[in-house]
Amino acid sequence: MKWIDQFSLEKQVAVVTGAAGGLGSQLVKILMEAGAYVVLADTDEIRLNRVAQELDPSGLKLFVQKCDVTKEQDILSLIDQVHQKYGKMNVLVNSAGVLGPDAAWLHVSENDWDSVLDVNVKASWMMATHISKYMIANQLAGRIINISSSLGLRSQLKRIPYATSKAAVEHLTRNLAMELIQHNIRVNCLAPGWMNTNMVKNILAGEEGEKWRASIPMRRAAEPAELAGPLLLLASQASSYMTGTILRVDGGYAYCGIELPE
Ligand SMILES: NC(=O)c1ccc[n+]([C@@H]2O[C@H](COP(=O)([O-])OP(=O)(O)OC[C@H]3O[C@@H](n4cnc5c(N)ncnc54)[C@H](O)[C@@H]3O)[C@@H](O)[C@H]2O)c1
Repeated sequence: MKWIDQFSLEKQVAVVTGAAGGLGSQLVKILMEAGAYVVLADTDEIRLNRVAQELDPSGLKLFVQKCDVTKEQDILSLIDQVHQKYGKMNVLVNSAGVLGPDAAWLHVSENDWDSVLDVNVKASWMMATHISKYMIANQLAGRIINISSSLGLRSQLKRIPYATSKAAVEHLTRNLAMELIQHNIRVNCLAPGWMNTNMVKNILAGEEGEKWRASIPMRRAAEPAELAGPLLLLASQASSYMTGTILRVDGGYAYCGIELPE
């Protein structure tokens, strides 16, 4: 076997939550191109079907499942459907996420807090728990990849629930990694910074775009394709000795200075 073959996901089954999203859909494309069958889970069925149709018009590699990851019943039904279709699950990517309010600390409501923490943290935990149970019961060596952000490490004004949720996702990764090590399930985390998805393109093209660009040590946002190497590393056999790792793909953003209130 050549070294490069370790990155192949041929005949593997991967589940991606938030698969209709700007970044989520790119993660699906990367996994599919590496050979995996990919299950696309999201609440937004219309965008989900559009993404699947664009990426795989033949319908041979992608399988769409409407799923609200905050609802346990939806997760159990997703597992059941995937089992019936493929009889296995090897990789889970927890990409469903919400940004929450752009609000200073005093204007964050309890509802803002709960809605961000529920999707970003609780649902990642619940998906990982149920899919791990399935992997263990079916004696599958699994890989779980959580998606954090530079804000999992770095503070940013007006983003308290989101930044707190991403720090929790990073610790969830480390803790789950230790719990699951005996079951041959590895848990790692990708922490992207500014990615050139539609949302970020609009911010960088807007009034404060230059200020934000200047705050990134590499002075640019990443193209989604720049996540391909790190994602395939964590999803494949190539990372066989890695678990509990937070892999930052952010042009240095997490490690540079923070903005303070005026
Ligand atoms: N885009 C970026 O620049 C960036 C940077 C760093 C980290 N991230 C993280 O990457 C992940 C994906 O980002 P994105 O750009 O695709 O975001 P996005 O907003 O484009 O998509 C998020 C997707 O999650 C889905 N979703 C929300 N709540 C859900 C629920 N309860 N159940 C199922 N699906 C649900 C939405 O419908 C949406 O399709 C997120 O966790 C985000 O925090 C993104």
